Amino acid sequence: MNVQTTTSLQPGEARCPGPSAQDIIAADGQDVPAVLREQSYRFLGDADIPTERYTSRAFHDLEVARMWSTVWQFACREEEIPEPGDYMEYGIADFSFLVVRTEAGDINAYVNSCLHRGTQLRPSDSAGSATQFRCPFHGWTWNLDGSLKEIPCRWDFPKVTDEAFRLPEVKVGTWGGFVFINPDEDCQPFEDYLGVLPEQMKLWPLEDRAIVANVRKVIRCNWKVTQEAFMESYHVLATHPQALAYLGDANSQYDIWGDHVSRQLNTQAVASPHLGEVSQQVIADAMLMDLGHAGEGNMLKVPDGMTARQVIAKGVQESIGPALGTDLSHLSISETLDTIEYFLFPNFHPWANITVPLVYRFRPNGNDPDSSIMDILILRPCPEDGPRPEPAPLHILGEHEMFSDAPELGGLGPVFDQDTSNLERLQVGLKAARKPGITLGNYQEARVRHIHQTLDKYLAG
Ligand code: FES
Ligand SMILES: [Fe+2]
Repeated sequence: MNVQTTTSLQPGEARCPGPSAQDIIAADGQDVPAVLREQSYRFLGDADIPTERYTSRAFHDLEVARMWSTVWQFACREEEIPEPGDYMEYGIADFSFLVVRTEAGDINAYVNSCLHRGTQLRPSDSAGSATQFRCPFHGWTWNLDGSLKEIPCRWDFPKVTDEAFRLPEVKVGTWGGFVFINPDEDCQPFEDYLGVLPEQMKLWPLEDRAIVANVRKVIRCNWKVTQEAFMESYHVLATHPQALAYLGDANSQYDIWGDHVSRQLNTQAVASPHLGEVSQQVIADAMLMDLGHAGEGNMLKVPDGMTARQVIAKGVQESIGPALGTDLSHLSISETLDTIEYFLFPNFHPWANITVPLVYRFRPNGNDPDSSIMDILILRPCPEDGPRPEPAPLHILGEHEMFSDAPELGGLGPVFDQDTSNLERLQVGLKAARKPGITLGNYQEARVRHIHQTLDKYLAG
């Protein structure tokens, strides 16, 4: 790819030479949803981002005090707590909450701390079904709706009233089958916080999808280091070189809406602009190989006059659709193949597309600024007939396990291993650096800068 040396462009105006994501979608010659034709980039400046934001305990503490304690955050899926009494613990830094399906079918979230002497009512990362929440220490007990049920030897606690000793509740919002909580009583209303996300994603009802994989791994770097590795395609050239033959990387599209929402749009079944001319058959073969679909009878021939995008999209619709019990033939090539990855501040990444229907979440690991928790969900459309599949159980990878040790991730496991292979070194390198800040690309890394600018608004209180 040629280096663009034009100096007449203002910062933020330069783009990869060659076809843009919009050019590629237009060349498919199909009607696509209007949201896929939208572009919403803003130049957000080019100042370096201080490295201490990734390494300092004081900065982590500030994030907890001003950001994690006031933002809406993805706690669990509704399908994980379908029946009255089902619960999941959700933790962030020192916070611990119980997200509970009540007898009435509502979803409540409580502070997971006994009102006697403070024991967690359920352990961290636990999930299950309960008829009540009984503290294991002295037996104080609450109903599913948070009302006080029983205190052994209540004669000894004359000052305790039922009303004052309800379990403290935090706010709950639901969208797309996801349950969000907000620790702050005076928080921004959930619908306002979501911004354009529901409108942007209304064609892809994630509430009608089911968890088919749920994999967690601790990564030894700051949570923002991990997250930001998944917010640009600039890294594909060096980190995923095998994908260049079928992935539009440098010509990915990045969009920003308001403070909380952004998107990247990566075209698939096209060669990277780094490679120049690549035959349509080579593109198709490379994509099927890398995604683990290669094998006898699975390779697809690209006839003369057709594109890899046309052939692979049709192949995907015809193979995945029946497997899912869903007709995908109405989908455009772009909806079938392209990565349509949305983001909701601070850490929630729902993908719209069918081929790789991922969701990511990134959190600090406790209060360690050098350690993070990455969750990967794969959501598949529920079959049109029949019951909703049971959600896949959480698979927590051990310290020495890799994503490729999680068979449920299929061909994606090694790709995630490539992604995360850099990150511990990145954290060490940030601490070793004499340069006080990291330098971001104006376009390709704009979503990273966007997060920091929004974070600053929270940190300013
Ligand atoms: S700490 Fe919970 S009952 Fe005593
Ligand atoms: Fe990657």
